[in-house]
Amino acid sequence: MKINGTPTRTIWPAKDGWAVEIIDQTRLPHELVNVRLESLADAAHAIKAMLVRGAPLIGATAAYGMALAARANSSDLALTVAYNILHATRPTAINLKWALDQMITALGKVPEDQRMAAAYARAAEICDEDVAINSAIGDNGATLIQAAWESARARGADRVNVLTHCNAGWLATVDWGTAIAPIYKAHDAGIPVHVWVDETRPRNQGASLTARELNWHGVPHTVIADNTGGHLMQHGMVDLCIVGTDRVTSNGDVCNKIGTYLKALAAKDNAVPFYVALPSPTIDWSVADGIKEIPIEERDATEQTHMTGKAADGSIVSVQVTPDGSPAGNWGFDVTPARLVSGLITERGICAASPEGLRGLFPERNG
Ligand code: MRU
Repeated sequence: MKINGTPTRTIWPAKDGWAVEIIDQTRLPHELVNVRLESLADAAHAIKAMLVRGAPLIGATAAYGMALAARANSSDLALTVAYNILHATRPTAINLKWALDQMITALGKVPEDQRMAAAYARAAEICDEDVAINSAIGDNGATLIQAAWESARARGADRVNVLTHCNAGWLATVDWGTAIAPIYKAHDAGIPVHVWVDETRPRNQGASLTARELNWHGVPHTVIADNTGGHLMQHGMVDLCIVGTDRVTSNGDVCNKIGTYLKALAAKDNAVPFYVALPSPTIDWSVADGIKEIPIEERDATEQTHMTGKAADGSIVSVQVTPDGSPAGNWGFDVTPARLVSGLITERGICAASPEGLRGLFPERNG
Protein backbone atom coordinates (compact mmCIF):
# COMPACT_ATOMS: atom_id res chain seq x y z
CA MET A 1 0.00 0.00 0.00
CA LYS A 2 1.07 3.62 -0.14
CA ILE A 3 1.99 6.14 2.53
CA ASN A 4 1.68 9.63 1.12
CA GLY A 5 2.06 8.23 -2.39
CA THR A 6 5.09 6.02 -1.65
CA PRO A 7 4.58 2.24 -2.04
CA THR A 8 5.46 0.72 1.31
CA ARG A 9 5.66 -2.73 2.84
CA THR A 10 5.92 -3.47 6.56
CA ILE A 11 9.24 -5.34 6.20
CA TRP A 12 11.95 -5.12 3.54
CA PRO A 13 15.68 -5.83 3.03
CA ALA A 14 17.89 -2.85 3.90
CA LYS A 15 19.92 -1.23 1.10
CA ASP A 16 23.09 -2.99 2.30
CA GLY A 17 21.43 -6.29 1.37
CA TRP A 18 21.81 -8.09 4.70
CA ALA A 19 19.96 -6.18 7.42
CA VAL A 20 16.18 -5.91 7.45
CA GLU A 21 13.99 -2.89 8.04
CA ILE A 22 10.54 -2.67 9.60
CA ILE A 23 8.04 0.00 10.56
CA ASP A 24 8.04 0.33 14.36
CA GLN A 25 4.31 -0.13 15.00
CA THR A 26 4.61 0.82 18.67
CA ARG A 27 5.16 4.41 17.46
CA LEU A 28 2.04 4.54 15.28
CA PRO A 29 -0.25 6.35 14.69
CA HIS A 30 1.65 9.42 15.79
CA GLU A 31 5.15 8.77 14.44
CA LEU A 32 6.34 6.86 11.37
CA VAL A 33 9.72 5.42 12.34
CA ASN A 34 11.65 2.61 10.65
CA VAL A 35 13.85 0.28 12.67
CA ARG A 36 16.80 -1.76 11.41
CA LEU A 37 17.11 -5.41 12.45
CA GLU A 38 20.68 -6.72 12.36
CA SER A 39 20.55 -9.91 14.37
CA LEU A 40 18.44 -12.80 15.60
CA ALA A 41 18.07 -10.93 18.90
CA ASP A 42 16.78 -7.84 17.10
CA ALA A 43 14.17 -9.90 15.24
CA ALA A 44 13.05 -11.73 18.38
CA HIS A 45 12.75 -8.44 20.25
CA ALA A 46 10.75 -6.85 17.41
CA ILE A 47 8.19 -9.66 17.58
CA LYS A 48 8.02 -9.96 21.37
CA ALA A 49 7.77 -6.21 22.03
CA MET A 50 5.27 -5.88 19.14
CA LEU A 51 7.26 -3.50 16.96
CA VAL A 52 5.82 -5.91 14.40
CA ARG A 53 2.61 -7.77 15.05
CA GLY A 54 -0.25 -9.44 13.20
CA ALA A 55 0.03 -13.14 12.43
CA PRO A 56 1.42 -12.98 8.86
CA LEU A 57 3.94 -10.25 9.69
CA ILE A 58 5.11 -12.14 12.77
CA GLY A 59 5.83 -15.08 10.43
CA ALA A 60 7.64 -12.92 7.87
CA THR A 61 9.80 -11.31 10.57
CA ALA A 62 10.65 -14.71 12.03
CA ALA A 63 11.72 -15.87 8.55
CA TYR A 64 14.13 -12.94 8.28
CA GLY A 65 15.20 -13.62 11.88
CA MET A 66 16.34 -17.06 10.71
CA ALA A 67 18.24 -15.43 7.82
CA LEU A 68 19.99 -13.05 10.24
CA ALA A 69 20.79 -16.03 12.47
CA ALA A 70 22.17 -18.01 9.50
CA ARG A 71 24.36 -15.05 8.58
CA ALA A 72 26.00 -15.28 12.01
CA ASN A 73 26.19 -19.09 12.19
CA SER A 74 24.64 -21.63 9.80
CA SER A 75 25.33 -24.78 11.80
CA ASP A 76 22.49 -27.17 12.64
CA LEU A 77 22.86 -26.34 16.32
CA ALA A 78 22.78 -22.55 15.79
CA LEU A 79 19.70 -22.80 13.59
CA THR A 80 17.90 -24.98 16.14
CA VAL A 81 18.67 -22.42 18.85
CA ALA A 82 17.42 -19.61 16.57
CA TYR A 83 14.22 -21.55 15.82
CA ASN A 84 13.54 -22.01 19.53
CA ILE A 85 14.25 -18.37 20.42
CA LEU A 86 11.94 -17.07 17.70
CA HIS A 87 9.26 -19.67 18.40
CA ALA A 88 9.11 -18.58 22.05
CA THR A 89 8.39 -14.92 21.23
CA ARG A 90 4.60 -15.16 20.92
CA PRO A 91 2.45 -18.26 21.44
CA THR A 92 -0.85 -17.82 19.61
CA ALA A 93 -0.28 -16.95 15.94
CA ILE A 94 0.47 -20.21 14.10
CA ASN A 95 2.06 -18.30 11.19
CA LEU A 96 5.16 -18.00 13.39
CA LYS A 97 5.70 -21.77 13.53
CA TRP A 98 4.67 -22.13 9.89
CA ALA A 99 7.35 -19.67 8.75
CA LEU A 100 10.03 -21.19 10.98
CA ASP A 101 9.24 -24.67 9.65
CA GLN A 102 9.44 -23.34 6.08
CA MET A 103 12.89 -21.93 6.81
CA ILE A 104 14.20 -25.11 8.45
CA THR A 105 12.93 -27.18 5.50
CA ALA A 106 14.60 -24.85 2.98
CA LEU A 107 17.89 -24.75 4.91
CA GLY A 108 17.93 -28.49 5.49
CA LYS A 109 18.17 -29.02 1.72
CA VAL A 110 21.47 -27.17 1.21
CA PRO A 111 25.03 -27.54 2.56
CA GLU A 112 26.06 -25.28 5.43
CA ASP A 113 28.02 -22.83 3.26
CA GLN A 114 24.94 -22.12 1.13
CA ARG A 115 22.47 -21.73 3.96
CA MET A 116 22.76 -17.99 4.44
CA ALA A 117 21.89 -17.25 0.81
CA ALA A 118 19.10 -19.84 0.88
CA ALA A 119 17.68 -18.29 4.06
CA TYR A 120 17.49 -14.76 2.65
CA ALA A 121 15.96 -16.12 -0.58
CA ARG A 122 13.26 -18.13 1.24
CA ALA A 123 12.45 -15.22 3.60
CA ALA A 124 11.99 -12.91 0.60
CA GLU A 125 9.76 -15.52 -1.06
CA ILE A 126 7.62 -15.87 2.07
CA CYS A 127 7.09 -12.11 1.99
CA ASP A 128 6.19 -12.08 -1.71
CA GLU A 129 3.87 -15.05 -1.25
CA ASP A 130 2.12 -13.24 1.60
CA VAL A 131 1.47 -10.24 -0.63
CA ALA A 132 0.03 -12.41 -3.43
CA ILE A 133 -2.12 -14.43 -1.01
CA ASN A 134 -3.55 -11.32 0.62
CA SER A 135 -4.32 -9.71 -2.73
CA ALA A 136 -6.31 -12.84 -3.67
CA ILE A 137 -8.13 -12.72 -0.29
CA GLY A 138 -8.98 -9.12 -1.13
CA ASP A 139 -10.45 -10.08 -4.51
CA ASN A 140 -12.48 -12.93 -2.99
CA GLY A 141 -13.73 -10.92 -0.02
CA ALA A 142 -14.62 -7.89 -2.14
CA THR A 143 -17.41 -9.97 -3.74
CA LEU A 144 -19.08 -10.14 -0.30
CA ILE A 145 -18.84 -6.37 0.14
CA GLN A 146 -20.22 -5.86 -3.39
CA ALA A 147 -23.20 -8.13 -2.57
CA ALA A 148 -23.77 -6.40 0.79
CA TRP A 149 -23.63 -3.03 -0.96
CA GLU A 150 -26.22 -4.13 -3.52
CA SER A 151 -28.65 -5.19 -0.77
CA ALA A 152 -27.95 -2.01 1.24
CA ARG A 153 -28.55 0.15 -1.83
CA ALA A 154 -31.81 -1.68 -2.54
CA ARG A 155 -32.91 -0.64 0.97
CA GLY A 156 -32.07 2.98 0.20
CA ALA A 157 -28.68 3.14 1.95
CA ASP A 158 -25.90 5.32 0.57
CA ARG A 159 -23.03 3.19 1.87
CA VAL A 160 -22.18 -0.31 3.02
CA ASN A 161 -20.97 -0.63 6.62
CA VAL A 162 -18.30 -3.16 7.55
CA LEU A 163 -17.24 -3.70 11.16
CA THR A 164 -13.73 -4.96 11.93
CA HIS A 165 -11.82 -5.76 15.11
CA CYS A 166 -8.13 -5.25 15.89
CA ASN A 167 -5.81 -4.65 12.95
CA ALA A 168 -5.85 -7.15 10.11
CA GLY A 169 -4.81 -4.61 7.51
CA TRP A 170 -1.55 -4.25 5.63
CA LEU A 171 0.28 -3.35 8.84
CA ALA A 172 -0.50 -6.86 10.13
CA THR A 173 0.91 -8.52 7.01
CA VAL A 174 3.63 -7.75 4.49
CA ASP A 175 1.10 -5.89 2.35
CA TRP A 176 -2.66 -5.63 1.64
CA GLY A 177 -3.81 -7.21 4.93
CA THR A 178 -6.33 -10.00 5.32
CA ALA A 179 -9.64 -8.62 6.67
CA ILE A 180 -8.94 -5.15 5.29
CA ALA A 181 -7.77 -6.32 1.84
CA PRO A 182 -11.40 -6.82 0.65
CA ILE A 183 -12.20 -3.32 1.94
CA TYR A 184 -9.31 -1.80 -0.02
CA LYS A 185 -10.33 -3.69 -3.17
CA ALA A 186 -13.99 -2.66 -2.77
CA HIS A 187 -13.09 0.97 -2.06
CA ASP A 188 -10.71 1.09 -5.04
CA ALA A 189 -13.48 -0.37 -7.25
CA GLY A 190 -15.75 2.53 -6.32
CA ILE A 191 -18.01 0.81 -3.77
CA PRO A 192 -18.97 3.31 -1.03
CA VAL A 193 -17.64 1.27 1.90
CA HIS A 194 -17.49 2.67 5.42
CA VAL A 195 -15.67 0.86 8.23
CA TRP A 196 -16.59 0.71 11.91
CA VAL A 197 -13.20 0.33 13.59
CA ASP A 198 -13.27 -1.32 17.04
CA GLU A 199 -10.66 0.49 19.15
CA THR A 200 -9.44 -2.92 20.43
CA ARG A 201 -8.32 -2.44 24.00
CA PRO A 202 -5.96 -2.92 25.62
CA ARG A 203 -3.35 -2.13 22.95
CA ASN A 204 -5.73 -0.23 20.68
CA GLN A 205 -4.64 -1.83 17.40
CA GLY A 206 -7.93 -0.68 15.86
CA ALA A 207 -7.73 2.94 16.99
CA SER A 208 -4.00 3.24 16.36
CA LEU A 209 -3.30 1.01 13.36
CA THR A 210 -6.50 0.21 11.43
CA ALA A 211 -7.62 3.83 11.60
CA ARG A 212 -4.09 4.93 10.63
CA GLU A 213 -4.01 2.84 7.48
CA LEU A 214 -7.63 3.52 6.43
CA ASN A 215 -6.87 7.19 6.91
CA TRP A 216 -3.72 6.92 4.73
CA HIS A 217 -5.76 5.20 2.00
CA GLY A 218 -8.76 7.53 2.19
CA VAL A 219 -11.29 4.86 3.21
CA PRO A 220 -14.21 6.38 5.20
CA HIS A 221 -14.19 4.99 8.74
CA THR A 222 -15.28 5.69 12.31
CA VAL A 223 -13.45 4.52 15.42
CA ILE A 224 -15.81 3.10 18.04
CA ALA A 225 -15.39 1.85 21.60
CA ASP A 226 -15.15 -1.93 21.76
CA ASN A 227 -18.58 -2.22 23.35
CA THR A 228 -20.41 -0.32 20.60
CA GLY A 229 -20.75 -2.99 17.90
CA GLY A 230 -23.76 -4.77 19.42
CA HIS A 231 -25.72 -1.52 19.58
CA LEU A 232 -24.91 -0.68 15.96
CA MET A 233 -25.95 -4.16 14.85
CA GLN A 234 -29.30 -3.89 16.68
CA HIS A 235 -29.98 -0.70 14.72
CA GLY A 236 -29.12 -2.08 11.27
CA MET A 237 -25.92 -0.07 11.07
CA VAL A 238 -23.60 -3.00 10.29
CA ASP A 239 -24.01 -4.91 7.02
CA LEU A 240 -21.08 -7.24 7.44
CA CYS A 241 -18.30 -8.06 9.91
CA ILE A 242 -14.87 -9.08 8.61
CA VAL A 243 -12.04 -9.91 11.01
CA GLY A 244 -8.62 -11.52 10.72
CA THR A 245 -7.29 -14.44 12.71
CA ASP A 246 -4.15 -15.77 14.34
CA ARG A 247 -5.07 -19.43 14.05
CA VAL A 248 -7.93 -21.38 12.49
CA THR A 249 -8.39 -25.02 13.46
CA SER A 250 -9.18 -27.88 11.09
CA ASN A 251 -12.79 -27.65 12.40
CA GLY A 252 -13.05 -23.96 11.48
CA ASP A 253 -12.78 -22.49 14.99
CA VAL A 254 -11.22 -19.04 14.84
CA CYS A 255 -8.75 -17.56 17.31
CA ASN A 256 -8.35 -13.80 17.04
CA LYS A 257 -7.79 -10.71 19.16
CA ILE A 258 -9.64 -10.66 22.48
CA GLY A 259 -13.21 -9.45 21.99
CA THR A 260 -13.75 -11.07 18.60
CA TYR A 261 -15.98 -13.74 20.16
CA LEU A 262 -18.32 -11.13 21.65
CA LYS A 263 -18.68 -9.47 18.24
CA ALA A 264 -19.51 -12.83 16.67
CA LEU A 265 -22.18 -13.45 19.31
CA ALA A 266 -23.73 -10.04 18.68
CA ALA A 267 -23.59 -10.65 14.93
CA LYS A 268 -25.35 -14.01 15.30
CA ASP A 269 -28.09 -12.46 17.47
CA ASN A 270 -28.69 -9.78 14.85
CA ALA A 271 -28.30 -11.93 11.70
CA VAL A 272 -25.28 -9.91 10.58
CA PRO A 273 -22.89 -12.02 8.46
CA PHE A 274 -19.60 -12.62 10.30
CA TYR A 275 -16.65 -13.50 8.03
CA VAL A 276 -13.05 -14.29 8.84
CA ALA A 277 -10.24 -13.61 6.36
CA LEU A 278 -7.13 -15.78 6.49
CA PRO A 279 -4.14 -16.83 4.47
CA SER A 280 -3.62 -20.61 4.37
CA PRO A 281 -0.53 -20.47 6.65
CA THR A 282 -2.93 -19.42 9.43
CA ILE A 283 -4.66 -22.82 9.36
CA ASP A 284 -3.37 -25.16 12.04
CA TRP A 285 -4.34 -28.55 10.62
CA SER A 286 -2.97 -30.27 13.74
CA VAL A 287 -5.67 -28.97 16.10
CA ALA A 288 -9.46 -29.31 15.94
CA ASP A 289 -10.98 -27.75 19.08
CA GLY A 290 -9.85 -24.14 19.29
CA ILE A 291 -11.06 -23.51 22.83
CA LYS A 292 -9.23 -26.50 24.27
CA GLU A 293 -6.15 -26.60 22.07
CA ILE A 294 -4.97 -23.08 21.17
CA PRO A 295 -2.59 -21.41 23.63
CA ILE A 296 -3.85 -17.94 24.53
CA GLU A 297 -1.19 -15.32 25.10
CA GLU A 298 -1.33 -13.48 28.42
CA ARG A 299 0.55 -10.21 28.30
CA ASP A 300 1.82 -7.73 30.87
CA ALA A 301 -0.98 -6.18 32.93
CA THR A 302 0.44 -2.70 32.35
CA GLU A 303 -1.09 -2.85 28.86
CA GLN A 304 -4.45 -2.88 30.66
CA THR A 305 -3.67 -0.45 33.46
CA HIS A 306 -2.06 2.18 31.19
CA MET A 307 -2.85 3.86 27.89
CA THR A 308 -0.40 5.54 25.55
CA GLY A 309 -1.29 8.56 23.47
CA LYS A 310 -0.32 12.00 22.23
CA ALA A 311 -0.46 14.85 24.72
CA ALA A 312 -1.59 18.36 23.81
CA ASP A 313 2.04 19.43 23.42
CA GLY A 314 2.63 16.62 20.89
CA SER A 315 4.69 14.44 23.20
CA ILE A 316 3.85 10.71 23.49
CA VAL A 317 2.78 9.88 27.05
CA SER A 318 1.60 6.83 28.97
CA VAL A 319 -1.12 7.40 31.58
CA GLN A 320 -2.47 5.09 34.25
CA VAL A 321 -6.24 4.49 34.04
CA THR A 322 -6.71 2.17 37.03
CA PRO A 323 -6.26 2.84 40.75
CA ASP A 324 -2.95 1.96 42.36
CA GLY A 325 -3.16 -1.57 43.70
CA SER A 326 -5.98 -2.93 41.46
CA PRO A 327 -4.77 -6.06 39.69
CA ALA A 328 -5.50 -6.38 35.96
CA GLY A 329 -5.73 -9.37 33.61
CA ASN A 330 -4.60 -9.24 29.99
CA TRP A 331 -5.61 -12.16 27.77
CA GLY A 332 -4.63 -11.32 24.20
CA PHE A 333 -6.93 -13.59 22.19
CA ASP A 334 -10.18 -15.54 22.31
CA VAL A 335 -11.73 -18.31 20.25
CA THR A 336 -14.88 -17.90 18.19
CA PRO A 337 -16.48 -21.31 17.62
CA ALA A 338 -17.02 -22.25 13.97
CA ARG A 339 -20.82 -22.22 14.45
CA LEU A 340 -20.71 -18.42 14.81
CA VAL A 341 -18.68 -17.88 11.63
CA SER A 342 -20.57 -17.29 8.36
CA GLY A 343 -17.58 -18.17 6.21
CA LEU A 344 -13.80 -18.18 5.80
CA ILE A 345 -12.27 -15.96 3.11
CA THR A 346 -9.04 -17.51 1.84
CA GLU A 347 -6.78 -17.02 -1.15
CA ARG A 348 -8.50 -19.99 -2.82
CA GLY A 349 -12.06 -18.77 -2.29
CA ILE A 350 -14.69 -18.59 0.43
CA CYS A 351 -15.74 -21.68 2.35
CA ALA A 352 -17.84 -22.77 5.30
CA ALA A 353 -16.10 -22.74 8.69
CA SER A 354 -16.14 -26.52 8.91
CA PRO A 355 -13.83 -29.49 8.24
CA GLU A 356 -15.66 -30.11 4.94
CA GLY A 357 -15.43 -26.44 3.94
CA LEU A 358 -11.71 -26.22 4.61
CA ARG A 359 -10.88 -29.57 3.04
CA GLY A 360 -12.95 -28.64 0.00
CA LEU A 361 -10.66 -25.67 -0.63
CA PHE A 362 -7.52 -27.53 0.42
CA PRO A 363 -8.05 -31.06 -0.97
CA GLU A 364 -4.35 -31.86 -0.50
CA ARG A 365 -5.22 -32.11 3.23
CA ASN A 366 -7.69 -34.95 2.64
CA GLY A 367 -6.74 -38.45 3.66
O1 MRU B 1 -1.63 -8.94 19.10
P1 MRU B 1 -1.62 -8.65 17.63
O2 MRU B 1 -1.65 -7.20 17.30
O3 MRU B 1 -0.49 -9.38 16.92
O4 MRU B 1 -2.98 -9.28 17.11
C1 MRU B 1 -3.31 -9.21 15.75
C2 MRU B 1 -4.62 -9.81 15.45
O5 MRU B 1 -5.31 -10.32 16.31
C3 MRU B 1 -5.03 -9.85 14.01
O6 MRU B 1 -6.42 -9.77 13.88
C4 MRU B 1 -4.56 -11.18 13.41
O7 MRU B 1 -3.19 -11.36 13.63
C5 MRU B 1 -4.83 -11.26 11.97
S1 MRU B 1 -3.65 -10.31 11.09
C6 MRU B 1 -3.92 -10.34 9.45
